[in-house]
Amino acid sequence: MKNNLAKVSRSRSVNAAVANSNLKLAVAKTPEALAPDHSRIISYLEAHKPATPCLVVDLSIVAGKYGDLRAALPAAEIFYAVKANPAPEILDRLVALGSSFDTASAGEIRQVLAAGAKPARISFGNTIKKPADIAFAHAVGVDLFAFDSEAELRKIAQHAPGARVFCRILVEGKGALWPLNKKFGCAPEMAADLLVGAAKLGLVPHGVSFHVGSQQLDPAQWGNAIAEAKWVFDRAAEQGVTLRMVDLGGGFPATYGPGVPTVAAYGAAIGRALKASFGAGQPEIIIEPGRYMVGDAGVLETEVVLVSQKSYDDDRRWVYLDVGRFGGLAEVEGEAIRYRIRPVGESAAPEAPVVLAGPTCDSADILYDKAGYTLPSDLESGDRLRLYSTGAYTTTYSAVNFNGFDPLRAIYI
Ligand SMILES: Cc1ncc(COP(=O)(O)O)c(C=O)c1O
Repeated sequence: MKNNLAKVSRSRSVNAAVANSNLKLAVAKTPEALAPDHSRIISYLEAHKPATPCLVVDLSIVAGKYGDLRAALPAAEIFYAVKANPAPEILDRLVALGSSFDTASAGEIRQVLAAGAKPARISFGNTIKKPADIAFAHAVGVDLFAFDSEAELRKIAQHAPGARVFCRILVEGKGALWPLNKKFGCAPEMAADLLVGAAKLGLVPHGVSFHVGSQQLDPAQWGNAIAEAKWVFDRAAEQGVTLRMVDLGGGFPATYGPGVPTVAAYGAAIGRALKASFGAGQPEIIIEPGRYMVGDAGVLETEVVLVSQKSYDDDRRWVYLDVGRFGGLAEVEGEAIRYRIRPVGESAAPEAPVVLAGPTCDSADILYDKAGYTLPSDLESGDRLRLYSTGAYTTTYSAVNFNGFDPLRAIYI
């Protein structure tokens, strides 16, 4: 598996394909996505006034997202990224709709099987797996495994002999609010060698995957990554190995605010990029959407625990909520993901600047300090706020009992 491939030739062929697809992208329209309709959730909250903090998820929005994504990318098989929200209600609904599943652990494989998914519809997409978990997946019939290193490939060969494998490549992913361009993936040169090596280890070299970063707001980012994948296909073919599948990862956005292109714009950009790189010989395509599928389906209701000021001179109020970083809002890290936050009920008072923080005794439990949030100046303890598009990466980030607070409760309607 020694690397003896020329990097220069990769850059040249990749750049040509991207230039080609970008030309067409420049004239493509990317209309703004409409805000999702949360009226069922709001009606539920008004009628039940659940104890806070509480996330309410509308399963019909999840189903709608699944349908919209299928329509935008008809050639792609959807593997829902279970990590975004593994609630049985969501998995059941997606099994009924015919979805496949991208899993990160033996635990997620068990959850998906319990929802009735067939093993043939499950991919073990984590590139970092324990031998016992690989063996478990193999024993229950999972046959599709990700890797990005020789050591992982050897583990898969030993514990899941004969399985289909795909190699994750590193891609740049500019424009993503939650970048994934460091920890996972390997250089395309290495990927090509490893996939050729996979065949020698008795595995089936199936394809290439990448992830252009989560909440990726630039549909053109898939173009470069698809061209890199094609380069790997070509190098493998030169060594007698035919690859069949490209996994386009996740990255499709939730509607946290304005400026989010529609899913149709992503479908169009990806379609053009696939044509530019692969021409008539299109590969099998899979996608692994997480945030897009469930983010907009959730609204989190929280109670204001305290409103205070730090000094007589500081006119920014501190608003402490009963949910924070340890209660499920870990993705406020860096303040790039900015949830829409609105008070429950009308207020005639003018809006004024606030710092938003969680309820724990941990000084890291500050949600938004620099993002410039404002809330009505008459906000006080006991008032409720709603955080929109909070259906993804919240419940499972919630600590079990940090500071004695219960994990985030979720209701699925
Ligand atoms: C392998 C893999 N696939 C899919 C996803 C889902 O990404 P997103 O939520 O951006 O759709 C992730 C997110 O971390 C991932 O690691």
